[in-house]
Amino acid sequence: MTDALEVDGLSGGYDDYDVVSNIGLTVGASERVGLFGPNGHGKTTILNAISATLARRRGTVRFFGQPVDRARPQAIVAAGLIHVPQANTVFPDMEIQETLELAAWTPRARAARAENLDRVLALFPRLAERRRQLARTLSGGERQMLSIGVGLMCAPRMLMLDEPTLGLSPKLKDELAQAIATISAGGIPILVVEQDVAFVLSLVDRMYFVNHGAITREIGRRDAVDHDEIMAMYFGAGATA
Ligand SMILES: Nc1ncnc2c1ncn2[C@@H]1O[C@H](COP(=O)(O)OP(=O)(O)OP(=O)(O)O)[C@@H](O)[C@H]1O
Ligand SMILES: [Mg+2]
Repeated sequence: MTDALEVDGLSGGYDDYDVVSNIGLTVGASERVGLFGPNGHGKTTILNAISATLARRRGTVRFFGQPVDRARPQAIVAAGLIHVPQANTVFPDMEIQETLELAAWTPRARAARAENLDRVLALFPRLAERRRQLARTLSGGERQMLSIGVGLMCAPRMLMLDEPTLGLSPKLKDELAQAIATISAGGIPILVVEQDVAFVLSLVDRMYFVNHGAITREIGRRDAVDHDEIMAMYFGAGATA
């Protein structure tokens, strides 16, 4: 079966320097894949390069077999490759339901708006209870739920989530992990950035380690990786670069 996402030789950065180089990764059509690694090593930049929100980039990106590396961000969203950014800021003065409805702007998403709204509100009952509340009144965890909800309203064929559980309590983290598993079980492949290694291992089938702007390691869920090895990846690898 064609992979949902195939990235090859992807490089890119800001101003005149590359932050990430020669990135190769795949996400299967029903897979959950993680990206992890230290702060500032390029995880967000990789997602930005894939979703074309990074202006300077080169390499190939295929989405369900179709090349999208020259496509504009709007076209990538319309194709169904949806990026939920890190620390997503929702419009503070809009109601939750309004925010969700506004997100369904592509023709595909508009056609499925009512159905997707029901799905999001069923997935996140906290949002359903607060649907007429302004986004500014939400807690951090509820905002993350709204951000993922916005992604789901775009009628995704694949979701890229950038640190969806950053700063959340263990209980909320578990709630979001459940929601991500439910989304995935509904047939949507997922590429998720996470810092917490134990957490990401519980969430994904496979993960890539991002170090100094490159993918230096791929780890399967069943691979035995102990705490010392993870520490060496984070600190040992950083110290020798
Ligand atoms: N808009 C920008 N302009 C210039 N440099 C940037 C910009 N955004 C990020 N960078 C730099 O690119 C590098 C990689 O940043 P990136 O945000 O991709 O890392 P990250 O792995 O996602 O980190 P974190 O775990 O903290 O989110 C950092 O050195 C950062 O300072
Ligand atoms: Mg980041």
